[in-house]
Amino acid sequence: MSETGKTLWHGRFASGPADELMAYTVSLPFDQRLWRDDIACSRAHVTGLAHVGILTAAERDAVLAALATVEAEMGSGSFVFAPSDEDIHTAVERRVTELCGAPGAKLHTGRSRNDQVATGLRLWCKREVPQIVARIVGLQEALVARADTADGVYLPGYTHVQRAQPVLLAHHLMAHCWALGRDIDRLHDALDRLDVSPLGAGALAGSSLPLDPAFTAQQLGFTGVFANSLDAVSDRDFVAEILFALSLVAVHLSRLGEEWVLWTSEEFGFAVLDDAYATGSSMLPQKKNADIAELARGKAGRVIGNLTGLLVTLKGLPLAYNRDLQEDKEPLFDAVDQVSLALSALTGMIATARFVPEKMQAAADSPTMAATDLAEHLVRSGTPFRDAHAIVGALVRRSLAGDGALVDLVRTELGNEAAALVAPGVGVTMRTTPGGAGPKPVAEQRALLGRAMAAWKNRRP
Ligand code: ARG
Repeated sequence: MSETGKTLWHGRFASGPADELMAYTVSLPFDQRLWRDDIACSRAHVTGLAHVGILTAAERDAVLAALATVEAEMGSGSFVFAPSDEDIHTAVERRVTELCGAPGAKLHTGRSRNDQVATGLRLWCKREVPQIVARIVGLQEALVARADTADGVYLPGYTHVQRAQPVLLAHHLMAHCWALGRDIDRLHDALDRLDVSPLGAGALAGSSLPLDPAFTAQQLGFTGVFANSLDAVSDRDFVAEILFALSLVAVHLSRLGEEWVLWTSEEFGFAVLDDAYATGSSMLPQKKNADIAELARGKAGRVIGNLTGLLVTLKGLPLAYNRDLQEDKEPLFDAVDQVSLALSALTGMIATARFVPEKMQAAADSPTMAATDLAEHLVRSGTPFRDAHAIVGALVRRSLAGDGALVDLVRTELGNEAAALVAPGVGVTMRTTPGGAGPKPVAEQRALLGRAMAAWKNRRP
């Protein structure tokens, strides 16, 4: 128990809380992560109280000095939590009061943990989400660095995991950069929308004291201030939005992971992981596994679970604050942690892996990959596409049935110019349309991506 051994709300209760109640309801083990934000919130609040004359300048300064001590204690790990500390807000206020006495007992004037926690959690997001964005940029940069040194390497592009048409490796790698860029935009959109201070909403209805929410919002660096106190304390849309944006990041990383599991398999053999980014088997001495890629795939389920869990928590809640809302933090923190770890690990894995161009190109040079180019060759000389499709399809069928190599059948039936399209390395040069997979549009795309990445990297909330 604290110095007094009492909860913040002891006055109304004849007896203290049961151990089981405390064990079940405390949030301190996970909301400790909000300590910086809670202190920032308390600084703004106490400054605001003095600003409107509720506290004297001396009282304000006493509380600010105590908050500085709490900050130093928490920063150094020397802060001693008490069994009565239900959450980080309780712990900070208790310690401030221990440190400075009567002025400390005024810290919570006109404030509730309901507006306090909503404010602190928004501040936490404003600090943490930009770090995720920086990690996404890091992964984009790793992908682009590999694209820039891929030197015309090509591989099969797939649909239905069946070889479809050859694509430049750079094109494939850059595809993921665009998806990650949209993730950055989504996270920024969420940050823009959450930039509203709930401080001053009190428990649910505001205050009879002359608080100035706009002043504290400005102290905390928020662009906006709440318009409705009930909404201010019960709104967790920002948590849901960030969890959705992170879920989509996780989905993108999962898809990337799945590709690398395939690429590094002996069956594909398109890439070899650096030893530092691969794992072995406890039993099978020869194994080298892509565990980072697999966990990027596996943990997406957990991040999506965090999103769905929060949405289910929110769906039944009447206005305004309900204790259910305490369940917002663990899914958010876990999603941020897991996506951060995945981004860093995948970035290292991709930056250090060795590509195997011979394997990629051998797969992409299989003659049937030229089928669409052959059909389009016929289209250029006036054959309707549907007929061209049938003609080439029939040649592929005959070749597969053992009538001869496709290139020979093509030479006999369609001529030398058509046969040249089946030669190794030709197919990938054929796609010239904007955004396509051939050298010219890929070079144009690279310039476009460079500009887009500069904008993503420099975008500030
Ligand atoms: N630990 C609580 C939370 O995370 C703080 C708010 C508690 N408010 C209350 N009225 N019990 O939501």
